[in-house]
Amino acid sequence: MNIGVIGCGYVGLITGVCLAEMGHSLICVDNNEEKIKKLKNLIPPIYESGLSELLKKNKDRLKFTTSIEEAVKDSTVIFIAVGTPPKESGDADLSAVENVVTSIVKCMDSYRLIVEKSTVPVQTGTKIKSVMEMRASGVPFDIASNPEFLREGSAIDDFLHPDRIVIGLETERAKEILLKIYEPLGVPIIVTDLQSAEIIKHASNSFLATKISYINAISVICELAGANIKDVARGMGLDPRIGDKFLNAGVGFGGFCFPKDVRAFRRISEKLGYRFNLLKEVEKINELAKERFVEKIEDMLWNLQGKLVGILGLAFKPNTDDMRYAPSIDIINHLLSEGAKVVAYDPVAMENARRVLPDIEYRENPYDVADGADCLAIVTEWDEFKNLDLEKIRSLLKTPIIFDGRNIFKKEKMEELGFIYKGIGV
Ligand code: UGA
Repeated sequence: MNIGVIGCGYVGLITGVCLAEMGHSLICVDNNEEKIKKLKNLIPPIYESGLSELLKKNKDRLKFTTSIEEAVKDSTVIFIAVGTPPKESGDADLSAVENVVTSIVKCMDSYRLIVEKSTVPVQTGTKIKSVMEMRASGVPFDIASNPEFLREGSAIDDFLHPDRIVIGLETERAKEILLKIYEPLGVPIIVTDLQSAEIIKHASNSFLATKISYINAISVICELAGANIKDVARGMGLDPRIGDKFLNAGVGFGGFCFPKDVRAFRRISEKLGYRFNLLKEVEKINELAKERFVEKIEDMLWNLQGKLVGILGLAFKPNTDDMRYAPSIDIINHLLSEGAKVVAYDPVAMENARRVLPDIEYRENPYDVADGADCLAIVTEWDEFKNLDLEKIRSLLKTPIIFDGRNIFKKEKMEELGFIYKGIGV
């Protein structure tokens, strides 16, 4: 099938490359010329495991361009995967979606299936439809919603081996096309109306974020009561109705999905007439997780003025270089505002971090971060940090204090090694 994908961000690029891997011919569009130039040279503009290999492997089925017209002319199906960033109010900014839709409709000369892949608030499909109806001058089209559930760091595997595919649509023709694309994956396909598919995406991300905030709230109770969150989470997670995934307490969720989607879902619910206060609390608990982490550092080091804090991990989670809404940003800015000096290391996110955190010092490896620091704070749970030479770290630190914001170490073992250890909820 000839397929167009508009937007070569995380979702769009992975969608395009994976659909090519499934045997389709793809035209991928982005208005960022720099990005398209890189992609034409088969250089991934983002860090994602396996992406470079798939780009090269499928180069004959992948075309990259800045022209929407080119993609619309040659494709029956067009996936919209442009950004839907948050506005000041928390509402999703859908102007890029609208611009793309109006550009698509201008160059359509026969039937097209337009598929929303970006995360959008419920009823966006209906809005797209009415914008198109006003301008399509009789050219037939369908709208579908096909939310994406891939995670950064395991995006390709998530796309090619998903738990489920969700498709919201209105016609048999659209259903036939999308089933033809996805049936080869051999996974459950849920076919719904447009609105339900849109809600499934926001509701899933908000549920997962709620699960994280829930366990983070329980971690506070564990600290206050002298319990251990790791044991508590294990005891809860073995109940299959609860499940052990997304039950790791830490410094809070970040990234470009959960923070913005929880807010956007709360806002759209409010607009529809329901005050989703539960989600407000989820956001508050997430902010509190970062604040409590800094308070712990402050409690232990006393005055932060002039103290040197070593940070391990900057990306919002391991296996990505993505710094968007990373908890490290708020944590470090708070430390800096209290007068602390910060040195940091991340295996891949330092280049991106330099743009958002220009006032800290970047070091080559974890040992250089520990060297002379008043404490070490782990903010992202990279595997590299789990295998550190801890004796060496202890000897390099000015005072042997570790704040483990992702609970990668065991308290007893760390204390045996001579550290003063503060985890989350332990
Ligand atoms: C998330 C969803 O997991 C995907 O299903 C979805 O497709 C994607 O958003 C999206 O909407 O595009 P992602 O943002 O890549 O994926 O990252 P996650 O692995 O979900 O982690 C999000 C945040 O939660 C990270 O900061 C992570 O450290 C934190 N987290 C996760 C915890 O604090 N505890 C946990 O137990 C799990």
